[in-house]
Amino acid sequence: MSSVDGHIAGPRGCQECEVGPTLDLINLVMRRAEGLPPTIGSDYPHVYCGPNRENMRVIKVNGRVVSHTGLFLSDVKVGQHILRVAGLGCMVTHPGYRHQGYGTAVAEDWMRRMLEVGADVGWLDTDFPDWYRRVGWEKAGRRHTYYLDRGNVGLLPSLSGYEVRCGYPGYLEQMLTLHRQHPLGTYRPLSLFKMLLNRPATNRWPQLKAYLATQEAQLGAYVILSGNEVIEYAGAAQVVAGLIREVFQRKDDVSISTSDHDETGRVLLQASLAVCTPVLANGLPGLFASLGLPRSLTHLGMLRIANLSSLLAKLGLEEINVQPKGEAAVLTRGAEQCELTPQEQVKLVFGPERVADFATDLFPIPFYHWPLDYI
Ligand SMILES: CC(C)(COP(=O)(O)OP(=O)(O)OC[C@H]1O[C@@H](n2cnc3c(N)ncnc32)[C@H](O)[C@@H]1OP(=O)(O)O)[C@@H](O)C(=O)NCCC(=O)NCCS
Repeated sequence: MSSVDGHIAGPRGCQECEVGPTLDLINLVMRRAEGLPPTIGSDYPHVYCGPNRENMRVIKVNGRVVSHTGLFLSDVKVGQHILRVAGLGCMVTHPGYRHQGYGTAVAEDWMRRMLEVGADVGWLDTDFPDWYRRVGWEKAGRRHTYYLDRGNVGLLPSLSGYEVRCGYPGYLEQMLTLHRQHPLGTYRPLSLFKMLLNRPATNRWPQLKAYLATQEAQLGAYVILSGNEVIEYAGAAQVVAGLIREVFQRKDDVSISTSDHDETGRVLLQASLAVCTPVLANGLPGLFASLGLPRSLTHLGMLRIANLSSLLAKLGLEEINVQPKGEAAVLTRGAEQCELTPQEQVKLVFGPERVADFATDLFPIPFYHWPLDYI
């Protein structure tokens, strides 16, 4: 970091009186610079707030907050195992203080904090992957997106015996129960789930809507839609699929011209729905795959492992021995052995790229972070 700027404080957690100025900085960079209103505080009220201020890591120069990154901890279920996941959000440096190493210093401090709070894995979503690679992150994890349109939505099972509702009042607890029954995903307290759903439309999740399939006040399935994307679902696969078919039909406006364009030249009709899912052979993804629906595979985000040995122990994979070798690690399992950098380690464990011919029967693990939990 440059010392020509005078007195530098941090990186460290925010003090009470610094939460407001830090939010101002985040809004300046993430909202106002994009011509958007300063909504960070209401878009992520659980992250950038007084109670989480120790996880709002900042650097001050001459009394001014100039760089920040936030951390939010979640317990994420991976089958019968639970991983502590630290989300990284709102990495910002004031435009007048960039290229002096403040961002790097805050990102490294975030890593120290991640270890301090006992996280196993760091997760982030970014348009600047190469900047994060410099500080140890790598793209990893797997997400499928399935594509529905008028030509294939009729392949989904029809929803018989259920009523379809838009909006969740009265059903939140049942939704949480269904969410928790899914083998993958974050343990959300009810209050957090409510807050995530009640947020005003954000530029990340515009038009957030919940659709429910109910049978005499019993919830069979729910889906959460943002625009034309299903970002979350829970319930038995047949019921979820039937609900998605119903939602598609409700949204599909057959009165819209199939040939006209809007003033920007785009075709008016967009009768399509994308469905984000974990990569799984059963449940909804299994049903979609059995129908041959088109899909794409993307990374879940950028990931960083805090400590490979303890991560493998948490996943019940003690049969793999890990020996540190400088920045890298040598992994041994019976006669199998490989040496991997930290970036290769996340790809081995979370996929999708195969960086080594090692324990291919165990990796990648089916880790998933539901988009509603993104920060
Ligand atoms: C991304 C961002 C946080 C980086 O902040 P920063 O404080 O400038 O970060 P750093 O100074 O550590 O690194 C930036 C560059 O300066 C270089 N640098 C680091 N220390 C330096 C120093 N002492 N002198 C000169 N250059 C330096 C780095 O190598 C890097 O170079 P590159 O861009 O050519 O690869 C900042 O550009 C930002 O706020 N962007 C907008 C918000 C955003 O999009 N955030 C990411 C969302 S996930």
